[in-house]
Amino acid sequence: MVPLPDHLIVFTPSGRRGTVADDSSVLDAARSLGVDLDSVCGGRGICGRCQVMPMDGEFQKHGLTSSPSHLSALGEVEVAYRDRKGLAEGRRLGCMARISGALLVDVPAESQVHRQVVRKDVDLGSVEVDPVLHFYYVEVAEPQLDDPTGDVERLLRALADQWDLVGIAVEVRALLELQKALRKGAWAVTVAVRDGRDVVAAWPGYHDVKLGVAVDVGSTTIAGHLADLRTGDVLASAGRMNPQIRFGEDLMSRVSYVMMNPGGEIELTSAVRAALDELVGELVEQAGVDRRDVLEITLVGNPIMHHLALGLDPRPLGEAPFALVTDRAVSLPASELAIEAHPAARAYFLPCIAGHVGADTAGAILADRPQDRAGVQLLVDVGTNAEIVLGNGERLLAASSPTGPAFEGAQISSGQRAAPGAIERVRIDRDTLEPRFSVIGSEIWSDEEGFEEAVAEIGVNGICGSGIIEAVAELMLAGVMNSDGVIEGSAVERTDRVIADGRTFSYRLWGDILVTQNDIRAIQLAKAALYAGIRLLMDHLGSDTVDGIRLAGAFGSHIDVKYAMALGLLPDCDLEHVLSSGNAAGAGALIALLSGAARRDIESAVRKIEKIETATEPRFQEHFVEAMAIPHKTAAYPHLSRVVQLPERTTVPATRRRSRRRSQQEDV
Ligand code: FES
Repeated sequence: MVPLPDHLIVFTPSGRRGTVADDSSVLDAARSLGVDLDSVCGGRGICGRCQVMPMDGEFQKHGLTSSPSHLSALGEVEVAYRDRKGLAEGRRLGCMARISGALLVDVPAESQVHRQVVRKDVDLGSVEVDPVLHFYYVEVAEPQLDDPTGDVERLLRALADQWDLVGIAVEVRALLELQKALRKGAWAVTVAVRDGRDVVAAWPGYHDVKLGVAVDVGSTTIAGHLADLRTGDVLASAGRMNPQIRFGEDLMSRVSYVMMNPGGEIELTSAVRAALDELVGELVEQAGVDRRDVLEITLVGNPIMHHLALGLDPRPLGEAPFALVTDRAVSLPASELAIEAHPAARAYFLPCIAGHVGADTAGAILADRPQDRAGVQLLVDVGTNAEIVLGNGERLLAASSPTGPAFEGAQISSGQRAAPGAIERVRIDRDTLEPRFSVIGSEIWSDEEGFEEAVAEIGVNGICGSGIIEAVAELMLAGVMNSDGVIEGSAVERTDRVIADGRTFSYRLWGDILVTQNDIRAIQLAKAALYAGIRLLMDHLGSDTVDGIRLAGAFGSHIDVKYAMALGLLPDCDLEHVLSSGNAAGAGALIALLSGAARRDIESAVRKIEKIETATEPRFQEHFVEAMAIPHKTAAYPHLSRVVQLPERTTVPATRRRSRRRSQQEDV
């Protein structure tokens, strides 16, 4: 008998090539050559995941002439699939098409098991979609009188035979589901296997909808994304206010609520859980899907949100030594968080790092990966507490600084949250000292035509965090305020914008919206706390400079980094390397949703992070005092000086003060 010929086959985009026996299926050829080609139904022509595109023409680069006719003709199963679900022109089911000649085969992205998703809107970077949950379609042997094995045993046998899956167990909760699904599906079922270990759910026949939700539980807002765990596509995004606000605007007031009101933690827990459940409801409604298809939920949040969502007592986080219940990742049934989803759905909280550095920072590290960039990298998330991570490829350190709510517009005389009508950008003319500004909700600046009409409806109501930062920095750059943060009385002679306000002076921005001396003091305290925390980590790392800065969170997205640096919030750095990383914490939750490897990654990274407690470090206080000056009493800002003209320091640097004191002593 003449042996059947082998055929050369090349797959793109991987470039893998080899010869396969005549009549092999494209799926088998892909498997034998290690090509990433998906299959959920095990090659039965049901799932359509194995779709490929045979190329037509002579491909010199690959040394072959390929033709779609080098595949078997469209068979019954493929025609049935095409009629049922549609098959794009030229596409074939890899499990059905059999090879009869040389072929170049393109594997489209959606047919790759480990496809990379790159998203712009959520800023995911590039993530390999490989969640903790995988689906397998299996045909299980029917029970027989002469074979007394149970459903589970026959399922496990089928999984081993058809998918090479061994060492699998079936969760007790899934037993009834499996029993029903097997009978309803005429002994064909799709099972969900979590962590390559446990069958956690079963559906009759073929089932391929698997969804997940990633949530950032912020103290002000709770935001989430609904994602397709198969493709990595984000199907819906939504956010809502954290209802705990009614117990206190900031975190500490919520902890005090718990301290003052027995059982208060239960109220706070129920409030946040209800919001989580509503958020999932809103997301599935937006996407038009069934919440029973939600099988995985990942969450990030600061330590207090983390504890409250999990029903843990947050009081130890409100006082030294700020002990967490756990700094490991927590995984539990979603039903225990009162979230309605598939009964097998699990909720996974990323690990908290320290008493003040939460799972949100772990999420930000996962999304931003400072340890993978060259040089010393700084990641800052500014809220009522600034969470700070500093490090390089070898070490990562984390701390938090008590910045207070000034950067969010609180404690400022005309401060307000970033909402329409809030002044967010401010410039002050260096000669006339006249201000110009823009408000959230209008593109038109205050000195441009049409401004009054543009803000007629929204009004000019106050200053938000980014506005006050720019205002204070501009007051310094225009010489109205000295580097000690004092509005100079002499400025009264230069402009009627500066007005006496008791023993101090204020600058009038618009109507009765003033920047007062107290406002400046509040900003100085906040920025000194942030800078001191960063500087403390730099000391521990043994570095006087940083090579890159990422600002996470809403504040980071709105702030103009030039002004943040001019004010001395941040250490000097090449401004080109200072970027906003958007909602990095939320992006981290989404990455952990789509990738089991990412979960293992962040769990091990967090274990290695060196935690620095700012409250107990005497040097924190020293750095804090030095950082009260604007931009700083002693630190040099060479990169910043190239971009803005910094005024002379009014404060005498420590070294000069010492020598002056010495010379005074000598005089005596
Ligand atoms: Fe499922 Fe081909 S592997 S249709």
